[in-house]
Amino acid sequence: MQVMVIGSGYVGLVAAACFAEAGHRVLGVDVDAAKVEALRGGHSPIYEPGLDELLTKYLASGTLRFSTDLKEGVAEADAAFICVGTPQSEDGSADMKYVLAVAGQIGDAMALRAKDAKPLIVVDKSTVPVGTAARVHAEIASHTDRAFEVVSNPEFLREGSAIGDFLEPDRVVIGCRSDHAERVMKALYQPFLDRSGGKWFRMDPPSAELTKYAANAMLALRISFINEIANLAESVGADVDHVKTAIGADHRIGPAFLNPGPGFGGSCFPKDLQALLKVGREHGQPMMTLSATVEANRHQKQVLLRKVKAAFGVTPGVPAPLKGRRFALWGLAFKAETDDIRESMALELIDGLVNLGAEVVVHDFAAMEAVRAKIGDRVRYARTPLEACEGADALLIATEWAQYRQADLAAVAKALKARRIFDGRNLFRPEAMEQGGWTYHSLGRRPVE
Ligand code: NAD
Ligand code: UGA
Repeated sequence: MQVMVIGSGYVGLVAAACFAEAGHRVLGVDVDAAKVEALRGGHSPIYEPGLDELLTKYLASGTLRFSTDLKEGVAEADAAFICVGTPQSEDGSADMKYVLAVAGQIGDAMALRAKDAKPLIVVDKSTVPVGTAARVHAEIASHTDRAFEVVSNPEFLREGSAIGDFLEPDRVVIGCRSDHAERVMKALYQPFLDRSGGKWFRMDPPSAELTKYAANAMLALRISFINEIANLAESVGADVDHVKTAIGADHRIGPAFLNPGPGFGGSCFPKDLQALLKVGREHGQPMMTLSATVEANRHQKQVLLRKVKAAFGVTPGVPAPLKGRRFALWGLAFKAETDDIRESMALELIDGLVNLGAEVVVHDFAAMEAVRAKIGDRVRYARTPLEACEGADALLIATEWAQYRQADLAAVAKALKARRIFDGRNLFRPEAMEQGGWTYHSLGRRPVE
């Protein structure tokens, strides 16, 4: 199959590389000329494990190409995937301007297709509100009389494990109205379903569009729920590790996505919740569980700061109460194995600490450059996790990189001024930490005596 993937961000690049891996010929398109130039030279603009290897392999074989001009692919393509951003607008709704701009460009380029060519399958892979397939259809149709069909095909990959998620999906969801569209989509995805045994769901486009938001909302809700249970566990003297394991063993609940954390972030959960809330309001269906999830997450994003304030005796009204204090911060990305800092709680934590007068020395395995570009010298940047700890009053952990879990705690203790850790990812067991002489603040476990 000949595939175009329009938008070369986290989703588009992964989709392009994985479709090439499945044996399809792929043209990746992006308006960002510098990005396309780098990609042509084999340099990925994002950190995503396994992506570089696939890009290198299929650029070399010629089955994967990149261009700034989508016209290059339209004449021959069987399918064109729209993978551009749908950021949050001021009113909470998903901003559709990039998706609709691409639809217009596809419409213009359709003149390059033969009059008797099979309908081009235009695929909405971006996360878009219900009704977008119809809007994209109308936009393209206003530019061309050539045959095409718009299909909704939401994407469920997670950053940090995106290649595995794409190559071995739990399920593929297709919202389409014709058997031809379903056949094209099946031919594209069959190699992945063969690998994973994943399920194939054909439905109407609005249901596919709503499925995507419902999935993200459900996951976000679970996280906020376990965060609240963790907070309560601290107050009542229970241990959330026991609670989450035991509730997760119920097959109706399941064990995944029950890790308490410092509030969920990333480019999707926060904006998708807002978009779904907006759709609910527009249709007179208040999504009350989602409002509560947003509120709970806002509260949770302050959890580490609250613990620091309590431990260091910060009282309201005192100016710069943490002046003279230095904190090491491990982890800047919104989760491990990515360089993405969109809506990362680490940024809110930095803000909170710096506003209270503290000095913050940060480390991350992939997101340092992104943070430097965003906040510059508001913090100091350490080359290693250990360097960040030197002379610090405490270590704060915001991202669950595996290397932090494996850190040499004896060396960390030597570098710090005091054996004190505020762990937003529960990387260590409280008992072991206490035996090691640490004052260890984690989430939802035994309170520090
Ligand atoms: P991104 O911001 O990383 O990438 C978007 C890309 O589109 C950018 O490179 C931009 O230059 C390009 N672009 C914008 N307008 C264009 C145009 N007219 N022609 C060609 N390229 C254009 O975004 P992302 O994180 O990949 O997300 C894309 C969509 O997928 C969003 O709707 C998002 O909600 C959804 N999604 C994201 C993830 C994720 O993990 N990031 C997972 C599932 C779904
Ligand atoms: C999420 C979904 O998991 C994907 O299925 C979806 O495709 C994607 O959003 C999207 O639509 O963009 P992603 O945001 O990449 O993927 O990462 P997740 O692994 O879901 O983590 C999101 C946030 O929740 C992170 O801040 C993470 O640390 C937090 N989290 C996750 C927890 O606090 N606890 C958990 O148990 C799981």
